[in-house]
Amino acid sequence: MSSSQPHPRMLTGDRPTGPLHLGHLVGSLRNRIRLQYEYESFFIIADLHMLTTKSDPADIALIDKRARGLVLDALSAGIEPEHVNFYLQSPVPEIHELAGLLQPLVTVARLERLPPLKEMARDAGVEMSFALLGYPILQSADILCVRANAVPVGKDNYAFVEITRELARRFNARYGEVFPIPETVAGGTPTLVGTDGVRKMSKSLGNAISLDDSPQDVRKKVHRMYTDPNRITADVPGTVEGNPVFAWLDVFATDGTAVAAMKDRYRAGTIGDVAVKEYLAGVVNDVLDPMRERRERYATPGLVDELIVRGTARVREETQATVREVRRAMGLTGAWNRIRRSAERHAKRPGEPGQDGRRP
Ligand code: TRP
Repeated sequence: MSSSQPHPRMLTGDRPTGPLHLGHLVGSLRNRIRLQYEYESFFIIADLHMLTTKSDPADIALIDKRARGLVLDALSAGIEPEHVNFYLQSPVPEIHELAGLLQPLVTVARLERLPPLKEMARDAGVEMSFALLGYPILQSADILCVRANAVPVGKDNYAFVEITRELARRFNARYGEVFPIPETVAGGTPTLVGTDGVRKMSKSLGNAISLDDSPQDVRKKVHRMYTDPNRITADVPGTVEGNPVFAWLDVFATDGTAVAAMKDRYRAGTIGDVAVKEYLAGVVNDVLDPMRERRERYATPGLVDELIVRGTARVREETQATVREVRRAMGLTGAWNRIRRSAERHAKRPGEPGQDGRRP
């Protein structure tokens, strides 16, 4: 009945809905990279979660390609394969089993109130399905099945980890200590705005720069970025606050002095948008260049697939062990054992129906 392991564990991951972008990098990926040395790490490719908003055969047909893409994105960003277990969620059916066993511990009203779920339904243009309402419970099962201690995620996932903590506490209080209470590891960087300057960066909104974008794509996207709409020519004093170009420079630039000088010149109307964007494109490409190199290195055929297969087998074992312990703690194992033993006892008694139901 241990609730802690010798090595603390971290679990995080993404749905296979598209490539990772700069928002993921600053929102959670950098934390994951930092934590990989302190924790035994698990990286979920959450295809069951994808099904809560995208369940068309066309989406499902892309799972393998996108799963490989996610793993390659993570490796290129600096996750090291020897530190991490990458795994696909749907080949571990016991995750669903655990989710089902956790369901009595949360109310529909609690789930209906969660803002990120409503937002997800709206963004996906779907009504709240039963599956989407259960999204946080499924995520809790992911986290609890490997008994993770730390969960580095972006802001839109904080509420889900909060649900996980509630479920773990309630479970432990009602049935005995089985789960450690996981901690959210916060992103540390404010949500990154997209190239449209309005909404948070998101692949589906078409305002993202992906980690696998080419230097030319980066340049093109940065030059199309929204800036200060009141600035018609370079000699008009510009606004730095709320200007996405400067918001990005604050996040990605390493030369703070150069950025401060550029802000002064922008406010004074002595530098054009084009020059600032040219600088920003260089800064972003400096961030992505080492990732491009690593991506090439890891693109050996079969390497990523092997990692996923190995990690999935590992997690399946862990999850089966956890579910066994959960069933035992809840008393389900005991109930079944009493029925089984009684059947065996009666089967052994002479003159009673045998195991095959016939009298001897
Ligand atoms: N909800 C995460 C996302 O926004 C994906 C996810 C599923 C996850 N299960 C998880 C993240 C467990 C961290 C831990 O895509």
